[in-house]
Amino acid sequence: MRIAFIGGTGDEGMGLAYRLARAGHVCIIGSRSLERAQAAADALRARDDTLHFEAATNVDAARDGELTVVTTPYAALAGTLPPLADVLARKIAVSTVVPMGFSEGRASLLAVPEGSAAQQQQALLPDARIVGAFQNLSAKKLLGERAVDADVVVCADDDEAKQRVMALAGEIEGVRGIDGGALASSQLVEAITVLLVSVNRNYKARAGVRITGLKL
Ligand SMILES: NC(=O)c1ccc[n+]([C@@H]2O[C@H](COP(=O)([O-])OP(=O)(O)OC[C@H]3O[C@@H](n4cnc5c(N)ncnc54)[C@H](OP(=O)(O)O)[C@@H]3O)[C@@H](O)[C@H]2O)c1
Repeated sequence: MRIAFIGGTGDEGMGLAYRLARAGHVCIIGSRSLERAQAAADALRARDDTLHFEAATNVDAARDGELTVVTTPYAALAGTLPPLADVLARKIAVSTVVPMGFSEGRASLLAVPEGSAAQQQQALLPDARIVGAFQNLSAKKLLGERAVDADVVVCADDDEAKQRVMALAGEIEGVRGIDGGALASSQLVEAITVLLVSVNRNYKARAGVRITGLKL
């Protein structure tokens, strides 16, 4: 599959692209600047030249991708997504975004008028099939070489889109895709990342989430 990353030049976009390219997908790194996209794609290719990375502007990546993953900061959504609404109509657009603020070194969850960053993405891309996923996966882990060892809780109102993203998450070594319910539950998943930031600081770790007691 051809997977586009909007704001794919940051650690989270590059980390997910690296892992999903290893699973056999073509990953298109999107950016506001084609030069930055090319530099990021080159850096990923330098890690493993058997993998398939391409570079594009955000709008060209979104047009070209069969599935799109949004990996910009929360504050960038309102400026970035509306110009992509037409090209993303009827396509799956995954939100990895955590609305997080920092004050005196402490992370907190920002209040989002729509409820969650994923729901805001739905408001900004009204005809796209929005799925919340990957918000709890550390970019540093994704950019490492070890199996990731974490669950990805996937939330969406479109059941078929949710199942496809759960399957995609499961293609990352060490990851299970878990059905987290409706898109509104993304708020809970996004909040877990804020908790993980605090746990990571306390334990000098890169903690992830595992849901126990499931028969998968
Ligand atoms: N980092 C993590 O470990 C992690 C873990 C879980 C979830 N997340 C979520 O994943 C998303 C990306 O995280 P990140 O650490 O990769 O973020 P980042 O490096 O701060 O930003 C990613 C990319 O977004 C683009 N961008 C930045 N500001 C922008 C703006 N004002 N308007 C448009 N584009 C802008 C930039 O790409 P160009 O300049 O090339 O356009 C940048 O390289 C965030 O929403 C975060 O909450 C991150």
